[in-house]
Amino acid sequence: MMRRHIVFLSGAGVSAESGLSTFRGKDGMWTNKEWVYLASTEALNNDTQRCLDFYNYRRKQLAEVSSNDAHRMIAELEKDFDVTIVTQNVDNLHERAGSTNVIHIHGELSKVCSMKDRTQCVKEYPLTTPIKIGDKGEDGAQIRPDIVMFGEKVDNIEEAVESISCADIFVIIGTSLKVYPAAGFTAFVPRKAKKYVIDPNEIRECTTLGYEHIKTNATEGMRLLTETLRKLQ
Ligand code: OAD
Repeated sequence: MMRRHIVFLSGAGVSAESGLSTFRGKDGMWTNKEWVYLASTEALNNDTQRCLDFYNYRRKQLAEVSSNDAHRMIAELEKDFDVTIVTQNVDNLHERAGSTNVIHIHGELSKVCSMKDRTQCVKEYPLTTPIKIGDKGEDGAQIRPDIVMFGEKVDNIEEAVESISCADIFVIIGTSLKVYPAAGFTAFVPRKAKKYVIDPNEIRECTTLGYEHIKTNATEGMRLLTETLRKLQ
């Protein structure tokens, strides 16, 4: 039998139970206006040290947390399904849980790139090694975190859309869907696909689009979804 294609669109909520903050809502990172500024190209160019320190802090924090059961249950599905994860997350917790096909659209904290051109000198960089002013890539320019900052173009959109367009099952997990282009991805899901949302809060866009809402946190939601998918097999 052909393996079915399951696509996850994940956001900060899938990593919340690992101890990483989400962005919006009461304790979200973006309630700190200073951090919103530090995540912008304006800060990168004019306040480079502070911007690097903000990301060094987040990189170190990522080294100190682990994948949770939601990441692990998504990875487990590779045994029975053709799984693609389109993630807005800049952490590597899906990969550390064993997922092999992760499309990052907002970049990755575990990589650096050239400050002159984001597409150049991209390489893995140890999370616990702070990026300092004066650290240069092979092009002779300062290195920076390989992250999409406010003011920059999002990555891998064509690849994400291509994968979503041939989903048999589509799952939105832990994202408020407030940010484009991710918010627009639902338009590419085939009409015949089975669609689920795992999120403890209401995701307004999905109520009208035939999604089944598993209204709980990511780990419990993935347990319920895995049971449902087993019955579909
Ligand atoms: P948000 O903070 O906007 O949304 C997080 C979602 O996770 C909300 O819908 C919460 O209800 C849900 N949530 C919270 N705890 C959860 C849990 N334990 N289990 C499951 N869901 C939970 O984060 P994103 O949608 O990921 O971009 O934000 C998208 C982008 O906005 C981010 O990638 C970031 C930000 O600006 C960049 O930094 C480039």
